[in-house]
Amino acid sequence: MVGELRLGPVARGLLTYFPAINDLVPEKAAGGATTSATYCYGVWLKHLTMLHEHGFRGTPATIAELGPGDSMGVGLCGLLSGADHYVGLDVIAHTNTARNLKVLDELALKFRDRTPNVDKGWPYFHTLLDERAFPRHVLTNERLDASLSPGRIASIRQAIASPSLARDITAEYKAPWFDPRIVEADTVDLIVSQSVLEHVVDLPATYQALYQWLKPGGWMSHQVDFKCHGLTKSWNGYRACSEGMWALALGKRPFMINRQPPSVHLRLLREAGFELVHHEKFLRQDGIRREALAPMWADISEDDLNCSGLYVIATK
Ligand SMILES: C[S@@+](CC[C@H](N)C(=O)[O-])C[C@H]1O[C@@H](n2cnc3c(N)ncnc32)[C@H](O)[C@@H]1O
Repeated sequence: MVGELRLGPVARGLLTYFPAINDLVPEKAAGGATTSATYCYGVWLKHLTMLHEHGFRGTPATIAELGPGDSMGVGLCGLLSGADHYVGLDVIAHTNTARNLKVLDELALKFRDRTPNVDKGWPYFHTLLDERAFPRHVLTNERLDASLSPGRIASIRQAIASPSLARDITAEYKAPWFDPRIVEADTVDLIVSQSVLEHVVDLPATYQALYQWLKPGGWMSHQVDFKCHGLTKSWNGYRACSEGMWALALGKRPFMINRQPPSVHLRLLREAGFELVHHEKFLRQDGIRREALAPMWADISEDDLNCSGLYVIATK
């Protein structure tokens, strides 16, 4: 019985046991949506505006992003907003130089024109934007005049095209990363991630790494997506799957979704040493019912069962 699981993912998981056939079937792209400059711009404006709303001030000199996916676009937004250093850490090298340069050019125009943000999704931050749907109170004209100077944009371009020659401004993409020492301890001012922490296999070690990288007083902003990523019929249907079926669907893939609920993220974050500044949950009632839960989720709280999204800000 496949039950809540969709057939496609189970078949895909089974295929991973037959590498000769598996290699012939291309896996659906898993690098998210960051080939789109519009998407990256919306993600960055959201994290930046939410951070400002909850007390973050100034321009972070160094930004780290977990799981940038198909481009460094979110980090490039950070550089175009005044940061000098960006490091993206992924487990798969999804991106390439040509794509990053293209996204940079599109983003530079958006910041120059203060293009209205079109993302009205959750968490709802558009009410914090000005009448032109731009966070003018955060990205002031003075700040953007300096950060978008032709010299800086040329340096960002150089940082992407020739990373080994980059000095004042750097943009690095480290994939795969496994060892937290890949980033020097206490060197990062801001860490962001968008739809990544639900995929991370070793969550405790990852929250500890984030803590290690951040400077004392540094901030982080994460959005976690607890929906099924197309694996099951209901958005939280994976909580109805037996461990055997889940293992079959995973096959030999290195990761899928870790299924850890929001309470686990919040606990691990605190255990790593972070101070929680703000969090919000997107709760919905249209998922699987409690009676359908697999034994391992039988004691899950109502909040954990019904939460399809977590947005969290924390400091070190
Ligand atoms: C759904 S994509 C999101 C990509 C991008 N942040 C976006 O918003 O489109 C998830 C990303 O997380 C990455 N990922 C999975 N496990 C990771 C880990 N332990 N550390 C860093 N990145 C990870 C994947 O390779 C992929 O790029």
